[in-house]
Amino acid sequence: MEFKIGLLKGDGIGPEIVDSAVRVLETIGEKYGHTFDFTPYLIGGCAIDATGKPLPEETVTGCLNSDSVLLGAVGGPKWDTLSGDMRPEKALLGIRAAMELFTNLRPAKLYPALKGACPLREDLVEKGFDIMIVRELTGGIYFGERGYREGKFGKEAYDTECYSVTEIERIARVACDTAMKRNKKVISIDKANVLESSRLWRKVVHEVAAEYPEVTVSDMLVDNAAMQLVRNPGQFDVAVTSNMFGDILSDEASQLTGSIGMLPSASLGATKRGLYEPIHGSAPDIAGTGKANPIATILSAAMMLRYSFDLTAEADAIEKAVDEVLEAGLRTADLVGDSDVKPLSTDEMTDEIIKRI
Ligand code: IPM
Ligand code: MG
Repeated sequence: MEFKIGLLKGDGIGPEIVDSAVRVLETIGEKYGHTFDFTPYLIGGCAIDATGKPLPEETVTGCLNSDSVLLGAVGGPKWDTLSGDMRPEKALLGIRAAMELFTNLRPAKLYPALKGACPLREDLVEKGFDIMIVRELTGGIYFGERGYREGKFGKEAYDTECYSVTEIERIARVACDTAMKRNKKVISIDKANVLESSRLWRKVVHEVAAEYPEVTVSDMLVDNAAMQLVRNPGQFDVAVTSNMFGDILSDEASQLTGSIGMLPSASLGATKRGLYEPIHGSAPDIAGTGKANPIATILSAAMMLRYSFDLTAEADAIEKAVDEVLEAGLRTADLVGDSDVKPLSTDEMTDEIIKRI
């Protein structure tokens, strides 16, 4: 089969890790007889430098005309002082919105080979964990009304958390569908003891859950969820939550896996077209040094094959190759910790994964 893939390499380590994932996809193409056509588009700081805008129109059109999109990372100190609308991060929100990607799947699982890198005490993760965070991605406070005004104490800034029934329904449905393919357990995370939008969230999630008699849906307050993640991560199967809570909890969960350099993500909407990206950022401090861990991006490419192209065997092959390099004790710099293991460079790790496909 033939697929058109848009590449948004972005800034910092973005280009290096996307190149790694492209090499892996090319290997899959040769082995399984698929053609992947890659077209790069500018996003983030590099787009600001080249065009004056973080998300050029051409990038949006290109992504909408692709079968799927692979993204590296955006941002860096060079662009940190720009105003809100001109920041590289704005491009990320812009492309998510333009592609109507309301679902963000962020799997966090503990690889047995990386148990030693997990910061939690051994007895807490003895049985491992495999969590699928389903984060709402195009609503909530990220996209709510905002601005400046005069308040009780003078000038103030505000952002608003707002969720419609429709937005909650569709993300709750994704969570339940996802749970049906896993352990049939959903924990919905909110702040219903304080926020009106969370009370609506909770009500609607349960209405949707009623359509899924096999799925057990329970609620957890977000502060408790932050605590439960480090107390007993094994209790989570699917965790569904709002844009901002999902942003925060997915970083927390990623750290439990040993390194944020391991976590892929898929952003999906109502069609098969998705945007796939590692959950880590552009790490400008290590850009160009060969220290970046390409695994999160390579696993994001695997998610693309699975969710956008229905290429299950191909996705499995990538994931298995990643398991094997880790089992073989191969590590990038972020994963070596205090051990005396000699870390592999980005390219070396990619080669080792490719060898095992
Ligand atoms: C993420 C990032 C983004 C977000 C930023 C860079 C806008 O933290 O993808 O988790 O908050 O969604
Ligand atoms: Mg984040």
